[in-house]
Amino acid sequence: MHIQTPSGRYQIIVEAHALSRLPDLLTELDLRGTIWLVCDSAVETQYANPLAEQLQAQQYRVHVHAVPAGEGSKDLNVAMQLYSWMIAGSIERRDVVVALGGGMAGDLAGFVAATILRGVAFIQVPTTLLAMVDSSIGGKTGVNHPLGKNLIGAFHQPRLVLSDTNTLASLPTRELRSGWAEVIKHGVIRDAGLFQQLEALTQLGNAEIHYSAELIQRAARVKVDIVNVDEKETGERMLLNYGHTLGHAIEAAAGYGMLLHGEAIAIGMHLEARMAEQLGMVDTAFVARQATLIQAFGLPITIPAGMQAEHIVALTLRDKKVSAGRIRWILPTGVGSAVVRTDVPAPIVHFVLSSDA
Ligand SMILES: NC(=O)c1ccc[n+]([C@@H]2O[C@H](COP(=O)([O-])OP(=O)(O)OC[C@H]3O[C@@H](n4cnc5c(N)ncnc54)[C@H](O)[C@@H]3O)[C@@H](O)[C@H]2O)c1
Ligand SMILES: [Zn+2]
Repeated sequence: MHIQTPSGRYQIIVEAHALSRLPDLLTELDLRGTIWLVCDSAVETQYANPLAEQLQAQQYRVHVHAVPAGEGSKDLNVAMQLYSWMIAGSIERRDVVVALGGGMAGDLAGFVAATILRGVAFIQVPTTLLAMVDSSIGGKTGVNHPLGKNLIGAFHQPRLVLSDTNTLASLPTRELRSGWAEVIKHGVIRDAGLFQQLEALTQLGNAEIHYSAELIQRAARVKVDIVNVDEKETGERMLLNYGHTLGHAIEAAAGYGMLLHGEAIAIGMHLEARMAEQLGMVDTAFVARQATLIQAFGLPITIPAGMQAEHIVALTLRDKKVSAGRIRWILPTGVGSAVVRTDVPAPIVHFVLSSDA
């Protein structure tokens, strides 16, 4: 698969054993400078060190820096430590930053790659399902600010995205499930065939562990196709925010770290599907079908007990997707299609948040 945007063209590879291809791919891309491998501490011994050794065996100069696992590392202070490490090691414009880890490592290392020496080459090597189908694709990089997530960042397209599906074997089940929420989202907004393949998996039981590299590749393709027509999120790319308006609010209301991102998005998709039902855009059968799939992947559909509808509504108004006070809702019109709506009456939002179904 290829991303082809005004800012560049690059390959997205999703396959088992993909990591072993990195040295050859670097050569193909004519990237011969020093490699600054930034990894999540959870993948340092199992994947980063062997990868560095493999690159060194092919005569690449490699430096490895592990950042502590967890969203807390997506921070300017950690970026500063990476800048210091690179500058002290005499980084040059022709060098390459490689991110190995989930969306945290990718966003952080990508931001550092975008800004050090006004930008050096960047490669994403995602090791979470969420990162493989979502965060590694499309060039958004950044860190969090104490006042809000992802508020400091830059668009910096990678030169390559290399997803080795074997690395998912060590991912905790809850993290894997969280990634499936984004895969389900891609099926709903754009790819009915993907949605059906996911439904077929659920027939086997323990759906989350019966995946194939091809399925993950198909899910990634949805994002690739969307970014290819809308790199900077002015139109179609907004569809990727399905489930995220309420999902982000629920994630924040729960307190960061309580619900995983994908869990909050799963609840958000269910509630937003119910909004679409209220607006006559989908029928009850659609809502039930989506809910069955979400739950078959071990994901929730209901708001945690004790969470107030008013609080969630107030948080949605702080969302980045609000423009001139109007919320841009992404609502499904059926399996495989969704639209942007800015005319959703407030009572409908209150209704789905306060009635359990
Ligand atoms: N740039 C974008 O377009 C974009 C899109 C969506 C999300 N994001 C960002 O992505 C981040 C979330 O990404 P994530 O869900 O991958 O979280 P993450 O990077 O924090 O990884 C989740 C957990 O899995 C561990 N881990 C990663 N790979 C592993 C492996 N192979 N084996 C064992 N453990 C492993 C990590 O240490 C961490 O504890 C958020 O910061 C979010 O803002 C960015
Ligand atoms: Zn998401």
